[in-house]
Amino acid sequence: MEVQNIKSDKFWDDFVNNIWQKEYAVLDAYVQPDIITHEDAYQMLLNGLNTFTRKRHASKASLKLFIDGTPVTPAEIDAMGIIPKISDGNYTNFIERLQPLLKGRELCTVLDRAELLPHVRAEVYGLLKNVFSRLGYIAPESFAFFFFGEYTSTPFGAHIHDCEKECDATFITSLRGEKTIWVWPEGYEEDNPEVNGMRDMEAYSKDAAILIAHPGQMIYFPSYQLHIGESKVKDSFNLFVAVKPARDCTSAFFNFIEKQLECFPAGEYQEKYRILSLLRDRYEQTVKHLKQKERDNSRLQFDPDNMQKNAESIPEHITDAAKLLANYIPQDFLDLMAVKFWVSVLSSYGLASEVIEIEEAPLMKNQSIQLLKNHSLLWGKSTNHIVVGCAGTTFDYNKHHEDLVKPIVELINTGNVISIESMTNQFADLRIQDEIMHLLNRLNHIGVLKLTV
Ligand SMILES: [Fe+2]
Repeated sequence: MEVQNIKSDKFWDDFVNNIWQKEYAVLDAYVQPDIITHEDAYQMLLNGLNTFTRKRHASKASLKLFIDGTPVTPAEIDAMGIIPKISDGNYTNFIERLQPLLKGRELCTVLDRAELLPHVRAEVYGLLKNVFSRLGYIAPESFAFFFFGEYTSTPFGAHIHDCEKECDATFITSLRGEKTIWVWPEGYEEDNPEVNGMRDMEAYSKDAAILIAHPGQMIYFPSYQLHIGESKVKDSFNLFVAVKPARDCTSAFFNFIEKQLECFPAGEYQEKYRILSLLRDRYEQTVKHLKQKERDNSRLQFDPDNMQKNAESIPEHITDAAKLLANYIPQDFLDLMAVKFWVSVLSSYGLASEVIEIEEAPLMKNQSIQLLKNHSLLWGKSTNHIVVGCAGTTFDYNKHHEDLVKPIVELINTGNVISIESMTNQFADLRIQDEIMHLLNRLNHIGVLKLTV
């Protein structure tokens, strides 16, 4: 199959018109395989296990291990001692250590909802930006996951993805080892119901298209097509990006509120637990109510050429969802949540995975900073706050900082190398200089700045 070059704008225009949700394809990858080293990939696996000691927050990623296609339970993982360790250094060493236990059996490791290292995240944003800017919408809760190791066929067998619940489409980038995906025509599983979940698909191979991605190549196929994967190299790894639809982002918004409430110390927000349970009760009812409104345009539309303008106008169905909670949660808090949610979605191109926040040494004024490529800072305003967001993380400031925040955001968004000293020296007031340093340090913690001295 011909591998298509994805570097041009023309490619992406053709892609959304002719391939997206219609055809499968093998493409050049958006990320070169050497950008994600063997050690980087292992680091992301360890992050998913909360073993990265410099992390500030617990990971939301989940790890699954399969031996010869059979899931290994957490108790078995413990008993067999087959947990990846920092001392292994990379996946090759990890499986090397396990050889006596595996006795020649295949080990396959799946890291769902992986937290991406900042430079990997920048590459994934590049992909999502190309896709969504042409589709004119953003899908909150797109997510990334990794497959490590070998398997003769996907452990859970041939399957299709549920477009409503899972994703519209999947991009699979091979980073190490060859990746093969067998894809069957639309509706194949309806004519052959026995194939659902089947691992040995040899008898059906004549009807399948066989897509092979070598390291540095990417496979794309629509969700509704039956497929099964194969990775024959022991220490192979592949990055998957599942693009989810945005037909209803109420649940994403509610999850966001819930997560934000969890961050409040119990004493500071005494009603938090009561609100969380009310939120869960109200959720079903609210979604039903919003669906009844039958919006003709339920995707989160945005103008790709003016992200800041998008950030300043929150879609109506998010503010409507917020209104439905007004009897339970203070209005100014809801306003803030709506702004934070929307700025978070836009500034991450809807990629739901968590940003890894690590402890970094405080920035010094003699350093210079540069924003990582494909990132941008956005701001939004609520009743009492100005919210700054980048890579899905938001920081809120009292509204009286508005005149300070906007020019700083604009300056950083140029993507130029900026001397911290020149940025802070524009302001004689030391408290303002401190505020700027505070914002820069927070951006540095989420890994979106490149530093130079
Ligand atoms: Fe799949």
